[in-house]
Parts: sequence; C-alpha cells; structure tokens
Amino acid sequence: MIVEVVGEMLMPKMLAMIIDYGVGDKPMESASGIVRWIYSLCGENASPFIVTAMVGMIITAILMMVGGVGGAYFGAKASVNFAADLREDIYRKVQTYSFANIDKFSTSSLITRLTNDVTQMQNFIMTLLRMCLRSPGMMIGALIMALTLNPRLSMVLVVVIPLLGVAIGIIISKGFPRFAAMQTKIDALNATVQENITNVRVVKSFVREDHEKAKFAESNSNLRKAGFAATSVMIFMSPIMSFFMNITTIAVLWFGGNMVVNTTMSVGDLSAFVTYITQILSSLMMVTMMFIQMSRALASTKRIAEVLDETPDIRDDDLSEADKTRTVTHGAVDFENVSFRYYKNSEEKVLDNISLHIPAGSTVGIIGSTGCGKTTLVSMIARLYDADEGSVKIDGVNVRDYSLYHLREGVGMVLQKNTLFSGTVEDNLRWGDADATEEEIRTAAAHAQADGFVTAFKDGYKTQIDQGGTNVSGGQKQRLCIARALLKKPKILILDDSTSAVDTATEKRIREAFRGELRDSTKIIIAQRIGSVMEADQIIVMDDGCITGVGTHDELLANNTEYQEIYNSQMESQSAPIQSAPPVSAETAKEVLA
Ligand SMILES: Nc1ncnc2c1ncn2[C@@H]1O[C@H](COP(=O)(O)OP(=O)(O)O)[C@@H](O)[C@H]1O
Ligand SMILES: [Mg+2]
Repeated sequence: MIVEVVGEMLMPKMLAMIIDYGVGDKPMESASGIVRWIYSLCGENASPFIVTAMVGMIITAILMMVGGVGGAYFGAKASVNFAADLREDIYRKVQTYSFANIDKFSTSSLITRLTNDVTQMQNFIMTLLRMCLRSPGMMIGALIMALTLNPRLSMVLVVVIPLLGVAIGIIISKGFPRFAAMQTKIDALNATVQENITNVRVVKSFVREDHEKAKFAESNSNLRKAGFAATSVMIFMSPIMSFFMNITTIAVLWFGGNMVVNTTMSVGDLSAFVTYITQILSSLMMVTMMFIQMSRALASTKRIAEVLDETPDIRDDDLSEADKTRTVTHGAVDFENVSFRYYKNSEEKVLDNISLHIPAGSTVGIIGSTGCGKTTLVSMIARLYDADEGSVKIDGVNVRDYSLYHLREGVGMVLQKNTLFSGTVEDNLRWGDADATEEEIRTAAAHAQADGFVTAFKDGYKTQIDQGGTNVSGGQKQRLCIARALLKKPKILILDDSTSAVDTATEKRIREAFRGELRDSTKIIIAQRIGSVMEADQIIVMDDGCITGVGTHDELLANNTEYQEIYNSQMESQSAPIQSAPPVSAETAKEVLA
C-alpha cells in the first residue's frame, strides 16, 4: 500500500516535469535540483529527457501494480481467515448454550449471525485492510503536494471539504439504522425458509404450500424494502461525490487558469494540481465508502457480539476439583420443593413445589395430561433447564455440583422430540458410546427391539439415515433412539413418551429387556398409556405442574380419582380385537400406519 501511495504522489510530478521542461519552455533555472540533475544526465537535451521521465512513469506504474496486487492478496487472505476464525468462535460459543439461551436467540437468527453477519464483517475487513492506509495516505500526501505546489489555489479545498463532510455525515447517520433493520429482516426470511424446509412433510400434508408461499413472499418483500432503504443511501453517494469533484475541478481550472494567464503558475503545475485535487476528493470518497460499509458491518458486529457475550445460563465452570470428578454412581433422584417457569416474569408456574423421592434402581412411571409438566420435570434431572426454586439431587448431591459431562453421561435421556442425524444406523447408535463394539451395538439394538428391522434393511447397520431420521418410521426411530440411550449404560434412564409410536407388544418386550439389562439403573418412564407404566414400582400422577398422587397401580386405582379416570377411559377405548390379535400382525399394522 505504501508503494501505491508513493506512486500516486510521483506520477503527477513526473507528468508536470514533461509538460513544463520537456514539451513546454519553462526555464530550467526554476526547476528543482533533482530535475536539473536528470536534465544534465540527458545531455541537456529535451527528447532524451522526455523519454527518461516516461520510462520513470512506466516503472512507477509497474511497481504500483505489484504493490496493489500484494496489498489486495494479503488483505483478502487476512479477511477470509478472520471470518473463518470468527465462525469457529461463534460455533464454539453456541455449543455452550443451554436450551434457554438458544430459545432466546432463535435458531434461524443464530444461523444468520454465523453466516451472513460474518460475511458482512469479512467484506468490511477486506475493504479496511485495502483502504485504511491507502486512502488517508493518498489524501494527506496529495494535500501536502497541492499545498507546496500552490497554497493559494489550495484554498478551494477549504470551501469544498466542510461541505462534503456534512454530506457524508448525513449519509452515514442514515445508513446505520437501515442496515441494522435489514439484518433483522434477513433473520426473519431465514426463519421462514428454515421452518418451511425442515417441516416440508407437514406443509405438504396440510396442503399449506400457498400459505407458506405467501408467508415467504411477505418476508421476502420486507427484506427487499429494507434492502432498498439501506442501499438507497449508497445510491446518493456516487452522484454527490462526482458533483463535488466536477465543481472543484472547474473552480481549480478557473482560478488556476487565471494564474497561468498571469504567469504565476505553469501549465504543468496546474495539470499536476488538478490531479492532486482529484486524488484528495476520490480518497475522501473511498473513506466515505469505507464508513458506509462500516455502518453495515457495525450492525453485524453488534449481533455477533451479542452471541459471543451471552453467558450460558447452565454452567459448571466454578466447581471444585472434587465436584468435577464426581460421577453418578447409584441413580437415586430427589426433588426438593422444586418450582420452575419458562418465562421468569409469568405468574403461572410450570412446576409448582414438587417434592419426590425415586430410589436407585427402581422403575417410576409418570402419567398426566399433555402440558402438565412431565417433560419439564424430567428435564431438570439432566439440567436441560435449572430449577428456579428448590433443588434436584442425584444420590444426595445437587445436580449443580456435578460437571455437566459426568451428569449427562450418567443420565440417558430419550427426548420426546427426538431426532436422528444423517449418517449410518451404526453412527447414530455410537452417540451413546463411541467405542462400542459391533456386538454391544447389536445387543443394545436387540433390547430396544430394533435389531429385527435393522437387519432386515439391505445394508443392515450400515444403512444411511437421512437428516432428522425421515427415512425410518416413527416407531423405528423411537426404538433406535432408545438403543442409542441404552448404549450409554446410564445409571438413570429417562424415556419421555418414547414408545408412543411402538405397538404394545413390542413395547412390552422393551420393558422386559429393561428388567434384565438395566436391573440396577433407575428407569423413569413418561407415558400416555396406563399399560406402559402399570408394572412400575411407583407411578406419579401429575396435573397442572403438581403431583396429585404417588403409588403403585393398585394403590392409585383404589384412591386416586384422576388415575381412575385415565384408566377407565383407556379401558373403554381398548377394543377386544386388537388385544386378541397375534402380535406380529399388530406390529405390521402399526408399522404401516406409522
Ligand atoms: N421451551 C419452552 N418454552 C416455554 N414454554 C414451554 C416450553 N416447553 C414447554 N413449555 C410449556 O410448559 C408447560 C409444560 O410443558 P411440558 O413439560 O412439555 O408438558 P408435558 O410433557 O407434560 O406435555 C406447557 O404449558 C408448555 O406450553
Ligand atoms: Mg412432554
């Protein structure tokens, strides 16, 4: 960049030399020492003098090109690396987020911030590295040259620059809020696209394409408007700048022309002066462009900083050394006066003063209407959310005093909204245990009643699963998710409505496998069907964030009205033919339906 700047300063000088002393007849006595030295080297002859000056200009041009390419190359390299590092940092940060942190930003906004916002910053850094030295350098250099050439004529700038400053100020102050608004519109657009594409099956099954198209058209139109509002700021920039440049050139030629007529200035000097003035104004224009890009990048920077500055609300970094190494050994779970809300300022509690003791190795069923807080309750055990009041303990130790790693290693959770990842069946199961042998994988799958259908696939355990597990049935997906959790050999296994799409006969076999394989583990099973929890050591009945009953099936049936209601309603709906049908045909029917 320095080479470029120096070149820009020398070129007009050499041109003036040719015009005044080569072509024109300005007396050599008025020339500077270096010009006279070159003239004497050329044998005091005009033609070789012109050729020398031109060769000088060509060499300068080549050096400037080399400098320019070098500057651009390293600028591009630095900005691209910067962006890659930044993406890496954001990604790492997001991995530390709790569910609540992610809920706060929304997935689509996090994706926009990681991609589009980083690109905005990258573009700015590239421009900055390219221009930060060149433009101010050229401006100051040209200013000095102009002042030494003709201080009186330079007064033109005293009028032009403040005017220009005001114009630039207005443009920038208008730009920032508009670019910030534009980024949020990009968020909204991405949210629409993401929701539509990830849920394309639902959209199509409800024939909602037209509605989705309209929704997209609206976000798209919002973005278009915001984009135009922001870019229209830039649109004014160039014409205004050209106008100022033209006016200034005319003024310089007018006043300078008079000076030439009065022989107080040479033609060569005037031509050099015009070039310097143009350089000053165009570098000012580049600085302005840089500021505009900066106002755009600033909007993105703010959004990225929000992600990087967010404190994960579930943390384990202030544990003592002893706490850090503690693992879940038995699997007894205690809730002591636990209360929780998702929205901290809302009146209604999602969990209201829950106390509960689950002995190690026992099987516990949880039953209750949808939305009563079953999922929320079990989320507290693996610290997917932290209790607002009260404490959750495992083996008598608060879950906050385990490292997240050891806590979650000890708790196998099959989430209600579960998912498989793209990769083979085996890859997916290995989430439970990366070092599992093929034998162990098959055993876990067999216990989850998944081995049968997996081996029936053409590629068996090497079968590719699509993103989100869309190419297996709902019941198959649930069984694979259970197998994945079983491979962890957890001390506490939580199944959140994880057999809802599995037929009752298969579900029974899964429960039997638990009794053998997971004898010593605590099993917490949330279910809709009484049959799924009937044999549990204790059943918890929940309603509206509270526990309304705890006991065995027989106890609850005797004295818990809510349990009786659920029981009776399910007994009525369970028609005889399904119960008496052979298990195989029932399974087949379920598979087909799923
Ligand atoms: N991530 C969340 N953010 C805000 N509210 C939630 C969230 N998840 C669940 N809820 C609300 O909390 C209540 C309990 O939900 P949940 O525990 O999932 O019920 P259940 O599993 O018993 O059907 C519901 O009223 C639900 O609307
Ligand atoms: Mg639930």
